[in-house]
Amino acid sequence: MDQPSYLLTLLEEARRAAKNAHAPYSNFSVGAAILLRDDRIVTGCNVENASFGLTICAERTAATRAIVQGDRDWKAIAIVSPTGVTPCGACRQFLSEFAPNLEVWFGYVDERKLVSGPISLAEMLPGAMKFQR
Ligand code: THU
Repeated sequence: MDQPSYLLTLLEEARRAAKNAHAPYSNFSVGAAILLRDDRIVTGCNVENASFGLTICAERTAATRAIVQGDRDWKAIAIVSPTGVTPCGACRQFLSEFAPNLEVWFGYVDERKLVSGPISLAEMLPGAMKFQR
């Protein structure tokens, strides 16, 4: 897939969000930007805590913001970090609740580095858990 027209803006918004990361423990600021089907963008950053296990990843803060706003129709997510990381297992499960086929792009906070993607969330988390009674 060629890079779509929205990708640069999505990465730019993710980088802007990464600047607000609260990451004093890891010193690893991450930003995420979700593109809604109506072209609006919802961003998130990682929020760490002195009790390390309470840390929330950028993907989940973006996802949660979108849900609070009532925006559940997601097309793509861009994630930027110092090393171009992919979402952790918890975030894959969390995102797949709302958008199992989400288009995922990875980039860097340093915009000179190359972006990779897209990969669909279903490919990143085969057999995602669904609640069944
Ligand atoms: N982190 C994210 O926010 N998203 C990812 O995809 C990977 C990891 C955060 C969690 C923690 O604050 C820091 O990056 C180091 O793992």
